Amino acid sequence: MKKFLLPLLSTFVLGTVLQAATEAETLFDNKCSMCHIKTKPQDMSALVAPPLMGVMRHVKMSYPTKESAQKFMVDYVLNPSKDKAVCMPRKIARFGVMPSQKGNVTKEELEKITSWMYENFPPANFRGQGMMRNKPTR
Ligand code: HEC
Repeated sequence: MKKFLLPLLSTFVLGTVLQAATEAETLFDNKCSMCHIKTKPQDMSALVAPPLMGVMRHVKMSYPTKESAQKFMVDYVLNPSKDKAVCMPRKIARFGVMPSQKGNVTKEELEKITSWMYENFPPANFRGQGMMRNKPTR
């Protein structure tokens, strides 16, 4: 009987972790993806906000730990301002400051969403535009 318990338990634990990740992505899809696309943009002119991979690259450059990055993002999404922004000034000039998502998303949901964002973006193979150009030739 005991033999069955462990696999059963690990399936359950793994299932819960995966479910949490899916739930966070679904929240992002519902509440953020209409502005922040999750893929590399094909047509820059169609964008209404910086793509997720670019957002996370800049957030991580300023807030390298998960805890500080999440704290920044949860606050920013509810109370955005030009002074707090870590993205490039030309992004703000083009898109404007992000509208506060108060009422659209709760702090609890943001904890899940930003954890998922931090873990999954930018993807390992991502190279920002600026990084390509400034890459030292060795
Ligand atoms: C109505 C469009 C819109 C929605 C919806 C939206 N954003 Fe944004 N977001 C923007 C724009 C535009 C910017 C770039 C300007 C800025 O940084 O304020 C931005 C920037 C950001 C940044 C970078 C902040 C910085 O330092 O500049 C983060 C993080 C972010 N968004 C997270 C989210 C999350 C998480 C959600 C979903 C809960 C979300 N956004 C929903 C438009 C949106």
